[in-house]
Amino acid sequence: MMDLFSQIEEPEREELKRLRKELEEANYKYYVLNMPTLSDREFDEKMHRLQALEAQYPDMFDPKSPTQHVGSDLAVSRQPSAVSKGFETVKHKYPMLSLANSYSREEIEDWVRKLPQGVEIVCELKYDGLSISLWYENGELVHALTRGDGTQGDDVIENIKTIPSIPRHLVGTPSTFELRGEVLLSWERFEALNKEREEQEEPLFANPRNAASGTLKLQDPKEVARRGLTVYLYYMLGEDLPGKTHYERLTTAREWGFPVSDAVKVCKNVDEVMAFIAYWDAERKNLPVATDGIVLKVNNLAQQEELGYTAKTPRWAIAYKFPAEKQLTLLKEITYQVGRTGVVTPVANLEPVQLSGTIVQRATLHNEDFIRSLDIRPGDRVWVEKGGEIIPKITGRELSAISRQLSDFSFPMTCPECGAKLVRVEGEAAWRCPNETGCPPQIKGKIEHFVSRKAMNIDGLGEETIDLLYRQGLLHNIADIYDLKAEDIAAQERFGEKSAQNILAGIEASKQVPWARVLFALGIRMVGETTAKKIARVYNTIDRLQWATAEQLCAIEDVGPQIAENIVAYFNDIRNLEILERLRQAGLQMEAGEAPEPFGHSDKLAGMSIVISGTFAQHSRDEYKAMIEAHGGKNVGSVSKKTSFILAGENMGPEKLKKAEALGVRLMSEEEFLDMINIVV
Ligand code: IVH
Repeated sequence: MMDLFSQIEEPEREELKRLRKELEEANYKYYVLNMPTLSDREFDEKMHRLQALEAQYPDMFDPKSPTQHVGSDLAVSRQPSAVSKGFETVKHKYPMLSLANSYSREEIEDWVRKLPQGVEIVCELKYDGLSISLWYENGELVHALTRGDGTQGDDVIENIKTIPSIPRHLVGTPSTFELRGEVLLSWERFEALNKEREEQEEPLFANPRNAASGTLKLQDPKEVARRGLTVYLYYMLGEDLPGKTHYERLTTAREWGFPVSDAVKVCKNVDEVMAFIAYWDAERKNLPVATDGIVLKVNNLAQQEELGYTAKTPRWAIAYKFPAEKQLTLLKEITYQVGRTGVVTPVANLEPVQLSGTIVQRATLHNEDFIRSLDIRPGDRVWVEKGGEIIPKITGRELSAISRQLSDFSFPMTCPECGAKLVRVEGEAAWRCPNETGCPPQIKGKIEHFVSRKAMNIDGLGEETIDLLYRQGLLHNIADIYDLKAEDIAAQERFGEKSAQNILAGIEASKQVPWARVLFALGIRMVGETTAKKIARVYNTIDRLQWATAEQLCAIEDVGPQIAENIVAYFNDIRNLEILERLRQAGLQMEAGEAPEPFGHSDKLAGMSIVISGTFAQHSRDEYKAMIEAHGGKNVGSVSKKTSFILAGENMGPEKLKKAEALGVRLMSEEEFLDMINIVV
């Protein structure tokens, strides 16, 4: 028979095991899948509880417990079946540790009390990205390692080299040293990337941290360069480095040309620390990147060494996490939005509230299951949160809702736009309107997608014009675009002869758009830009693609059974075949050309003499030369009065720069140039 003690112990031992499993899983989802399931706070609370239980039951010590190691982002770790993602794994010289978290003045006071009397504390911003370790040997950047499992990391140097602020060569620095910091995607870049992904119906990144993490692990440095990562460095390590304090080392790194933030302060007591926290809790909203707290570090390096480390964190540093902003507000109504593929998305219409400096009055409710899992209905008071994410989230409701008796929730049975009966495919979360060819937002959405920049790139046909022409009965599907006449457009209010001609010129030019983009433009469900490119490379004509079976399609990289089914279904629909035939008649590219022109073709640069100078992040020099020629310009070697402009990269030659200044020749950045010739990178 069990004695009294073991009866009390048993549930706690079970809890300990359960917490280990839960935290292990949360680590995996956060670091490997890049899909966090617990908030930082929930994670920390569970971790603290686990630490307490492990202290209580030392016989259950396990070196593999999540309390004993940091999470892992290694491309292949814990995924025995996954293929290697192509990064070299390199052992860290010094383990890459995490930081202990705190959430209140009391916790900080507690931490300071345990430090030697009178220590200086450096306060810094805690950047919310992912950590990186840069190794320099004899002035050269030789490795850029992710944290990995703390002991070894993935070498993502090629991707890191796309960040212009990171020096690649240094003169006069110690022979070896390491700089650690945080890789981030700015709010601006994050929003632009998500906008693009939304247009292409690709899954959105939940926050800039996830977007930066997904970007850093890409295999294509060109795409990484296009997305534009940023970095802040905050920790220098190595033997025989100058300086006796952390602050001096940061200053040195800044002097060597590294991007080190100015938001750093040496504090002498808790009040100064709290003042720094209060200032930045408000001011961080004006920063271009996400921050989620403040990091406190003992300034003196000898004192740091004395304090030492636990298995996972240094004792000489701690993080203070800002509270997530949360507000309670009234859910006035749930409305429904129909997308271009017919997905019906419920939207919460809220009593406006102020949150992180913006007014929030709408938030997505994702799908029926989401609403049911939170059990929310119109009339409820709901919690709206804006944590690391820019998109506000509804995270729950107030429990004492009287509204329970007053209203009920049921997902609509029919499409709010066209009245068709909605369908929900087994295994999918979304309800869809099946009336593809008769439901206005689906019709207009498909046309908007077709003409968009990355698809057929037809200038002048914006959302409003499409709506106008649709309501006039002139546009019902994508093939109708090629039947539009100048007088149809010119007859519309606000349109003249000139704008009608421009639109027609755009339509005409779209006939040269290559097959891969035509395929993307068709708007087959889940066939995004990249997938379309991969399919078009294997199936170089539409006729071949039309007869491909789902099984054959699955052999293409990135094409799974669902996408394959969508393609087969698309070609099985007689209405689509009719549209395709009309597009073919109109002269669209339905097969890959003999020698594809990867950079398009136009006469935008006709008559221009262009000098290329410096180094570039997005394309090679030869590619820029090819682009200039493909768009009718001439690439010339030296700057003269006749030079139209200089395509100027980084580190442009000083002679050319001087001459350009003297002659007043314009310098154009690669971004401006790509924009000018409308290259979709
Ligand atoms: S110092 C040994 N300083 O926060 C101490 N970390 O939650 C190394 N982080 O893994 C870290 N801003 O990725 C430090 N100013 C800063 C930071 C910072 C962001 C990240 C870092 C670390 C994580 C811990």
